[in-house]
Amino acid sequence: MSKKVILTGLRANNDLHLGNYLGALLPMVELQKKYAGQYQINLFVPDLHSFTTPIDHSKLYEQTMHNLKLFVAAGLDLDDQDTFIYRQSYIPAHSELTVILNSFTYMGELSRMTQFKEKSEKQDSVSAGLFDYPVLMAADILLYGAKYVPVGADQTQHVELARDIAIRMNNKFGDLFALPEPEKEQIAFAHQQTRLRIRDLADPTKKMNKSDDSGKGVIFLGDSPEEAAKKVMSATTDSLGKVAHDYEKQPGISNLLDIYEALGGDTKEFIGNEQYGPLKQAVAVKVKEFLTHFQSRQTKVDQVKLTAQLESSEKAMNNTAGATLLKVQKVVGLRAK
Ligand code: TYM
Repeated sequence: MSKKVILTGLRANNDLHLGNYLGALLPMVELQKKYAGQYQINLFVPDLHSFTTPIDHSKLYEQTMHNLKLFVAAGLDLDDQDTFIYRQSYIPAHSELTVILNSFTYMGELSRMTQFKEKSEKQDSVSAGLFDYPVLMAADILLYGAKYVPVGADQTQHVELARDIAIRMNNKFGDLFALPEPEKEQIAFAHQQTRLRIRDLADPTKKMNKSDDSGKGVIFLGDSPEEAAKKVMSATTDSLGKVAHDYEKQPGISNLLDIYEALGGDTKEFIGNEQYGPLKQAVAVKVKEFLTHFQSRQTKVDQVKLTAQLESSEKAMNNTAGATLLKVQKVVGLRAK
């Protein structure tokens, strides 16, 4: 019997940031270690998702290749036989299944997506690609029958939509898609209390975001460790004068506690402190150490091995995704049964 699949994707329209790393990349690497030999791991770059918001297209290809390298620097074991890394656009079944799923997804559902609402508000003209983005993401998940999809809090709604679309199609066509687990199971599997949402350091009322223009509150994985430590030291906090986990009243402090913990620190010693300095200092040191280590690992990635693994993964995943697509094409009447 084939192994259950854990799958996630990280867009490459910019350098990855600490939120991407802690919300998705690190959990994925940890799950790979924990479940070695038991699960299949699919970690991919959804390159077709990159330009659902405007980007510099001349940099996309290079950024995609760079981000694949980051996966390895984060600790992904390429020797693991059950691990596959790939680029979405190299597997045409993603696009083809999206076109089919579009006719089984409702405008109302897509209009309700928080990400769509937030992103479309910031643009004068909104592309159909941005609106349709969750359907492409559903195809990414359903093509491989993924059970678990480690993502940050901002993507939860999209994973649930993928499940809803799959249930709808299974009701109509029989046992077509394996379902991703419901949200509660997803969180329990990752040993989390909730999905992670790292906030912007300068404005902790919003999430840390790749497309933030100033970059003041965003720690990019390519930032110099010193520069990143400075960003932490100038993080916005509050005037309540007591370290506590309270996202409503103290989003900045709560964010620093989350970052410290996610990087392996123990926050107990800071809770209740009347000074914020020691916490900031400790987070700055942790972030600096993390980036120093992470960036040095990037220089050691074996590019030849990475490219070979990428090509063989893409071949294998074209077969898997192609088989799912054919099953769908048959039931919707595009291919002979
Ligand atoms: P993307 O590329 O915007 O982000 C990659 C991952 O990082 C998580 N993330 C965060 N986690 C915590 N705090 C933050 N501030 C933060 N910002 C981003 C995201 O939740 C995500 O897990 N649609 C996806 C990519 C995608 C995908 C998929 C994911 C395409 N197809 C299939 C899973 C399965 C996206 O745009 O993520």
